[in-house]
Amino acid sequence: MSRDSILHTFVVAGALCVVCSVLVSAAAVGLRPKQEANKILDKRKNIIAVAELDDPNKSIDDIFAERIESKIIDLETGEYVDESVVDPMEYDQVEASKDPARSVDIPSREDIAGIGRREKYSFVYVVSGEDGSPEQYVLPVNGKGLWSTLYGFLSLDSDGKTIRGLTFYQHGETPGLGGEVDNPNWKAQWPGKKAFGPEGEIQIEVLKGKVVEADPKSQYQIDGLSGATITAKGVSQLVRFWLGDNGFGPFLDKHLHEGSES
Ligand SMILES: Cc1cc2nc3c(=O)[nH]c(=O)nc-3n(C[C@H](O)[C@H](O)[C@H](O)COP(=O)(O)O)c2cc1C
Repeated sequence: MSRDSILHTFVVAGALCVVCSVLVSAAAVGLRPKQEANKILDKRKNIIAVAELDDPNKSIDDIFAERIESKIIDLETGEYVDESVVDPMEYDQVEASKDPARSVDIPSREDIAGIGRREKYSFVYVVSGEDGSPEQYVLPVNGKGLWSTLYGFLSLDSDGKTIRGLTFYQHGETPGLGGEVDNPNWKAQWPGKKAFGPEGEIQIEVLKGKVVEADPKSQYQIDGLSGATITAKGVSQLVRFWLGDNGFGPFLDKHLHEGSES
């Protein structure tokens, strides 16, 4: 076959395609375990960050092992679920939220987070204090912003009312606008805010403007995001959704709020 023939060109191009696709497939398959491990590490980093447990002298895995217990709850009943029912080592909560067999439909009038469906089981990360007793509960949350679904963690104090932090590990909002949900100055407003009022009603909200510190309601309020009201409203609604009856409400009532057994 002449090197200048059309057939030769096709044979070389075809062979190149086969070699490249084998290489790309091998890389994708070979790197998958590493990607999965990095995903878990990233999630752990965010849980540690929202619980303010960062320690430069310790590895993420060590901090996690020492201070954090991953538990699964049934969102409807609020009860902890045995590992034989849902194995925390295997459970992919985001995947479950999209699977009709493992999630529930949320009636549109109640769907203030704009997520359509909600998984039946959720992780709850129980953070222990130095003395070993539960100090915070880190709850996975998600909801619609302007362009994307935001995924993050909300940490609640063991009093069940005081927020310890909010962070997002994934979203597609615009940098400089909705992306300001990642701005450390904005995130610094969340710790210490009260999520619930005296009657147990959800009060926390992100305002359209600035919080007026002298206003007694400021204990429940967070500054809005300038030029990104839609994302800010989305964050407000998703936090309120997950603290409510369709989210962690039953769990909080059973285990943290007044009159609970633990
Ligand atoms: C390119 C572009 C990107 C935008 N990204 C966001 C965003 O990520 N989040 C958001 O709430 N608004 C975003 N907006 C603005 C919204 O369209 C809307 O104007 C804004 O949320 C209203 O907020 P404001 O009342 O504070 O101005 C974007 C606008 C443009 C033109």
